[in-house]
Amino acid sequence: MRIIHTIAELRAYLTPFKRKAFVPTMGNLHEGHLALVRQAKPLSDVLVVSIFVNRLQFLPNEDFDTYPRTFDTDCLALKAAGCDVVFAPSEQELYPTPQTFKIHPPAALADILEGHFRPGFFVGVSTVVMKLFACVLPRVAVFGQKDYQQLMVIREMVQQFALPIDIMGGATLRYADGLALSSRNQYLTPDQRSEAVQLSLTLNVMAQALRMGATDVSALEHQAMTTLSERGWKPDYMVVRYRSDLQIPAPDAVAALAKKQSLVVLGAAKLGHTRLIDNVEV
Ligand code: PAJ
Repeated sequence: MRIIHTIAELRAYLTPFKRKAFVPTMGNLHEGHLALVRQAKPLSDVLVVSIFVNRLQFLPNEDFDTYPRTFDTDCLALKAAGCDVVFAPSEQELYPTPQTFKIHPPAALADILEGHFRPGFFVGVSTVVMKLFACVLPRVAVFGQKDYQQLMVIREMVQQFALPIDIMGGATLRYADGLALSSRNQYLTPDQRSEAVQLSLTLNVMAQALRMGATDVSALEHQAMTTLSERGWKPDYMVVRYRSDLQIPAPDAVAALAKKQSLVVLGAAKLGHTRLIDNVEV
């Protein structure tokens, strides 16, 4: 496995390959990331994983400085998972001058949910992913469904810019109790770790109610917010949306939409200082 820190070396090394697969990450890798790597491996003649904690997608009060950086263990895990190239540029390498050209995804998709609570987040994500795509020139890239809205923003960007890249979604990897694997789980105290499963449990309660024919979406959403608040969480949103565009489903069509598997339940909530997100397709 090759570890590369500069764009020039990456380009030179990748030149002979025809079918490059790419998994972008911010490092501190867990089995969820590695599952994406294993999914990408057979699709490619060379598999590139980037590790770059992207300042552009953090708000000033967020955890950019404390975001866990575990480069050496990440590389060991990537080698074992079949990665061929780790691309780990410094900030100076990827942003040698201030990145004033930015990708602004459409507000209807990117200023809601995560984008509402983390203004500018998807500008930062889209901009770095576009730039990483330009460095790697992949034929296929894999993103986790855990970050449902992020996957949609990237798909839309690739489509609207006609980038010749297949975007694939990878299933969310979970612990046995249902909590989705996330680098931010390690901020949780042991008590918070046991409580954390309530996010996916509550999303599953909502999804199950919809599958059983519930139609009052507002009541479901309100109940979920209350459940989490009463348990000490600070929920940002617990919502039912169309899978296709994350907009609010037409109230009189909810039962039919649930039957047609057209809905997704998404949630974000803070436990102590740790903000967790998750989603369940209905
Ligand atoms: P990061 O949070 O490191 O996640 C890298 C990829 O791993 C993303 O596609 C994410 O959806 C996926 N992932 C995270 N947890 C997962 C889980 N439990 N199961 C399956 N996949 C999971 O997402 C980012 O980095 C950044 O925004 C990035 C796209 C790299 C741009 O900076």
